[in-house]
Amino acid sequence: MPLEFRQGKGEDGKGKKTRHGPGNQARTARIDQRQVARLHRSQARKQQKPYGRAFPLAQKAVTGGCPRIFDSAAQRRKAGKPPCAACAFQIAHKGDSLRIREAMMTTDFAATRAQFHLPDGIIYLDGNSLGPLPKAAAGRVARAVTEEWGNLLITGWNKAGWMDQPIRLGNRIARLIGAAPGTVVLGDTLSIKVYQALASALEMNPARRVILSDTGNFPSDLYMAQGLCRTLGNGYVLKTVAPEEVDHALDRTVAVTLLTEVDYRTGRRHDMAAITAKAHAAGALTVWDLAHSAGALPVDLAGTGADFAVGCTYKYLNSGPGGPAFIYVAPRHADAARPALSGWLGHEEPFAFDLTYRPGGGIERMRVGTPPVLQLAALEASLDIWDGVSMADVRARSIDLTEQFVRGVEAACPALVLASPRDPARRGSQISFRHPQGYAIMQALIARGVIGDFRAPDILRFGFTPLYTTHADVTGAVRVLAEVMAKALWDRPEYKMRARVT
Ligand SMILES: Cc1ncc(COP(=O)(O)O)c(C=O)c1O
Repeated sequence: MPLEFRQGKGEDGKGKKTRHGPGNQARTARIDQRQVARLHRSQARKQQKPYGRAFPLAQKAVTGGCPRIFDSAAQRRKAGKPPCAACAFQIAHKGDSLRIREAMMTTDFAATRAQFHLPDGIIYLDGNSLGPLPKAAAGRVARAVTEEWGNLLITGWNKAGWMDQPIRLGNRIARLIGAAPGTVVLGDTLSIKVYQALASALEMNPARRVILSDTGNFPSDLYMAQGLCRTLGNGYVLKTVAPEEVDHALDRTVAVTLLTEVDYRTGRRHDMAAITAKAHAAGALTVWDLAHSAGALPVDLAGTGADFAVGCTYKYLNSGPGGPAFIYVAPRHADAARPALSGWLGHEEPFAFDLTYRPGGGIERMRVGTPPVLQLAALEASLDIWDGVSMADVRARSIDLTEQFVRGVEAACPALVLASPRDPARRGSQISFRHPQGYAIMQALIARGVIGDFRAPDILRFGFTPLYTTHADVTGAVRVLAEVMAKALWDRPEYKMRARVT
């Protein structure tokens, strides 16, 4: 994908008649962004490296490496090379680095934002819990209802391609999580997919009995593991250790690790590559929960050698409430993994109506029952937006947004304690702060149009979703939060009454 310099990206995506037309921000930029783009182009041409490959973002976050030519500043220093021209330019214009980075991106985030329905007067920082409505989703779902269900009736399974949808859309998600086509399928809920992946992985390591997880994992994952152990009996146990202890606990009793890459409460991120390598060296298989990773940061399932992965689509992937989950099985296991939830659509020939289960080929066997066609139609509308997006750009912008938020809140709200790792390379795309009155503070914020959420016992959670979150959103959220804290606006009985969903 060539580096395309785009002018006129509006902060809020509004007020632009054309996608690439000149905008105020570009006009008033103190640096010549075209010069940066030109430098990158010529530099990359010299090095003959392709544009558009995912840059290892964690490395970029740590080293300040150049995202267009794939050499980190540190690698170049080691090789005795000077920084690339664009990085040198960036170093010389430190104060403008944010604007330069944005100019270097190939993803037009103003254009992606314009494709979501975002209610007026709301700053939405909860896309890590439920993504907003893609504008095209209502029309796409209406079409599935009226034209497909309405007119095609049952012939829609063939004529509208409903039966292939879980694989077709799985392939589009695969790109976002570093998986090969044909390795991801959609369906069921994430809890179900956790069970399915875990059961298959355990069966593939029959001499061992321990599932290793951590205390930061999402409770449903732990509950599913506990339920599975109870069903299996025969000495199967779930062992949970502190997240930072996982490494040390990986001994020769562990059959499978069950870990969520990004902690749902704090945003702390496990090193997937390192843990997967260590697990394999210890003879264990890995199941990764990508609920807070898919669409939040670059994931490299194929590169890390992960065995199984699961995730949901209603958070960063914006499929709507109740959207289906996905499951990934590494190609080397796909024909060996046996599904414990052996439903008819995972059968080799569902319409043979055999009385005995025979698993389908590859990832198809991880299907269970009838796919949620209407919800998949909504997901399709969201994936149309994702198709034009570079995960490297998402990560770069996510880091910029989260850093801005941390700086702003820490400067304005000394009573809030940062619960997320300070180093952006060690966290996902959310920022959490602790406060004993976290619930009431969040309700006061929501009442003022800033939507995040609360996780017991004391976590205020804010999600940063570059597809539609802007720097202006961050500035506005910090301002409202500062006022809520400075004037103790949270201290009202109605903000302390817990609702069913927090
Ligand atoms: C990390 C993680 N795992 C599992 C789940 C459970 O997902 P579901 O309700 O779709 O089963 C969630 C829900 O938010 C989650 O965040």
